[in-house]
Amino acid sequence: MGVRFRGWGIAVPDRVVTNDELSQTLDTSDEWIFERTGIRERRIGGTTQSLGVLAGQRALDDAGCTADDVDFLLLATSSPDRICPSTAVLIANELGMSCPAMDINAACSGFMYGVRTAQGLLETGSQRILVVGAEHLSRWVDWSDRNMAVLLADGAGATVLEHDPDGTDLLSLVLGADGSAADLLTCQHEGYFQMNGKEVFRRAVRVVVESSQKALADADVSADEISLVIPHQANIRIIQAAVQRLGIGMERAVVVLDRYGNTSSASIPLAFDDARQNGRVKAGEYALMTGFGAGMTWASGVIRWSK
Ligand code: COA
Repeated sequence: MGVRFRGWGIAVPDRVVTNDELSQTLDTSDEWIFERTGIRERRIGGTTQSLGVLAGQRALDDAGCTADDVDFLLLATSSPDRICPSTAVLIANELGMSCPAMDINAACSGFMYGVRTAQGLLETGSQRILVVGAEHLSRWVDWSDRNMAVLLADGAGATVLEHDPDGTDLLSLVLGADGSAADLLTCQHEGYFQMNGKEVFRRAVRVVVESSQKALADADVSADEISLVIPHQANIRIIQAAVQRLGIGMERAVVVLDRYGNTSSASIPLAFDDARQNGRVKAGEYALMTGFGAGMTWASGVIRWSK
């Protein structure tokens, strides 16, 4: 039994916030932010619901299906608009869906956790699932804290996953979590995101490399055969360190964080769709998706897109 990625869609707010703009209110600079993170600008605005609806509708259109064709909606987010109900039901309602819907919080690994959950549902009777990663992180940023304000941003990405008895686009998927690291990157109720950046950096490289190596082995695909790496977009230096350790050239990595910053659950679908729009995703070629986030959580998978 298999899983096909049938369509993709993304959404970002119109409002662009550059590093120079942040430097007007924070003790920072474009030079520092770009050198340490690779980020030049980010999009800020909207809500998790509004961005998720837009990305979800675009993925449905791209897949050539309607709201009625979907029998489950999964929303990966670490910035739900309300504690209860889930933002997933709000998105489903606005899209005109009456299927089950729920949120998944696995921080920046959330989209891949969503794909894994969808895979399980497809293997047990569902036909088509909309997986959305959407974030309104700017709501949970203390804009006077330069440590976090330069990193986090808003956005959404979505895909339609479909059951196919004859083949699969998803060749492997390795997930992990280590709650002993919960305080390294956290946001308390009514609080703001806080992080031990150095320690997150160190662990991120390790879990990305280890889980990617396992995902490659599980798929029986070598690093040389990977045409494209779609990494979580947190920091260009983490991406560089990880692909180097995996023996994959940086030219094969998709980087959109210079334009979008860190959009957590949205960042992998944002990066994939950008690569697709730019003709970098070729049917039949192998791609490695890999991410990490608060938790810590991590997720790596090998796909071969057939569309
Ligand atoms: N602008 C200017 N200076 C800043 C700054 C900013 N936005 N943020 C921190 N600094 C300062 C620090 O105060 C420190 O000053 P000091 O030397 O006088 O003490 C100096 O810059 C170096 O700080 P440091 O924390 O050592 O920088 P770093 O090289 O580790 O980079 C991060 C900081 C956050 C960019 C980096 O640690 C990182 O990206 N970590 C991973 C974060 C991540 O990926 N999070 C998302 C997980 S999903």
